[in-house]
Amino acid sequence: MKIAIGCDHAALEAKNEIVNYLQLMGHDLLDEGTNSLDSVDYPDYAADVSRKVQSGMADRGILICGTGIGMSIAANRFKGIRAALCYTEELAELSRLHNNSNILCFGARTQSVESMKKITSVWLATQWEGGRHGRRLDKIEINSRGQHVQ
Ligand code: RB5
Repeated sequence: MKIAIGCDHAALEAKNEIVNYLQLMGHDLLDEGTNSLDSVDYPDYAADVSRKVQSGMADRGILICGTGIGMSIAANRFKGIRAALCYTEELAELSRLHNNSNILCFGARTQSVESMKKITSVWLATQWEGGRHGRRLDKIEINSRGQHVQ
């Protein structure tokens, strides 16, 4: 799978470990940075990864900041993006089954890299259920029409 990944300064080490892990699993990674410990603004990286997923240049995205909260808020402003902040494997699975999440968010200050690896594996392996969930996702798009970054 082609996966775009981004982080802020709070999550540099975690991002690099997840990149290595996913590359070893055979995935194609688009590393959008950041690549230093200098303080940066997480919305910039959320935008880069969201645009990669929006355009189809990436199949999925992963965003990591201190808590994962800022990244998920920022990414969900982009049309067609369904970013899910997941601290457990169960949440990751449900975010795929029910919400067809296309960006996974983590908090580097609030969860371990080992947990991120397990959660990511479940998330990548789980297919959307479709059916009744499609109607609900359509309503989310309709309710936010015109208010998203296109
Ligand atoms: C950066 O200090 C921190 O605010 C950021 O990583 C993130 O936790 C925001 O939600």
